[in-house]
Amino acid sequence: MLTGSSARLAYAASRQKHTLPDLTYDYGALEPYVSAEIMQLHHSKHHATYVNNLNVTEEKYQEALAKGDVTTQVALQPALKFNGGGHINHTIFWTNLSPNGGGEPQGELMEAIKRDFGSFQKMKEKMSAVTVAVQGSGWGWLGFDKDSGRLRIAACANQDPLQGTTGLIPLLGIDVWEHAYYLQYKNVRPDYVKAIWSVVNWENVSERLQMARK
Ligand SMILES: [Fe+2]
Repeated sequence: MLTGSSARLAYAASRQKHTLPDLTYDYGALEPYVSAEIMQLHHSKHHATYVNNLNVTEEKYQEALAKGDVTTQVALQPALKFNGGGHINHTIFWTNLSPNGGGEPQGELMEAIKRDFGSFQKMKEKMSAVTVAVQGSGWGWLGFDKDSGRLRIAACANQDPLQGTTGLIPLLGIDVWEHAYYLQYKNVRPDYVKAIWSVVNWENVSERLQMARK
C-alpha cells in the first residue's frame, strides 16, 4: 500500500483531466436570442480555455501537494478559483439553455418561485436587475439555500462559483461577461438579459432544484 507523498503522486498520475462538455444543441440553435458566432466562441474558445487552464493548475497543485509546498499551493488558489469556477459555471450554463426553452416553469419550481418571490414575473424582474447590475464581469444566479429551503437570487463577480463562494446551490445562471453578448448586443447588457429568458431550459432548472432538495 502506498502512503504519504507516493500515494499522492500516484493519485495525481491517475487523475482524470477535465474535458469540455459537448453541447446538446447546435451553435446556431439559440438564434435569434444568442448568435451562432457567440455560442461557438463562447463554448469552443472561452470555456475550453478555462478547462485547459484548470488542468494545468491542478497538475501544478498536485505537484506542490506532493512536495508539501504550501506556499505554491496558496499561490495557485486564485487560478484554481478562476478556472475551476469558469468550468463549473459554463458547464451549468449550457444545460440551462435550450432551443426549446422559454415560457414558464412548471410544478414544484413554479410553486417555490411564487412562494419566495410572489410571482414568476417578480422573480424574473429581480434576477434581471441583479444580473444587469453586476459590475464588470460576472454572473447572476437563481440558487437554492439548503438551510432555509428557499430560492435566492445572487450575483457573483468574475468566475466565482456560486456554491463554492456563497453556499447556494446553483439552479440557473446568466453569464454577463462581455464575451457572452458583446458581438450581438454590444454594450446593451439589459437587452441580452431580456433575450436569454426566451431560451431558458426550465426542465433543467427544475431537475436541479429536485437534486438540490435531496
Ligand atoms: Fe462565459
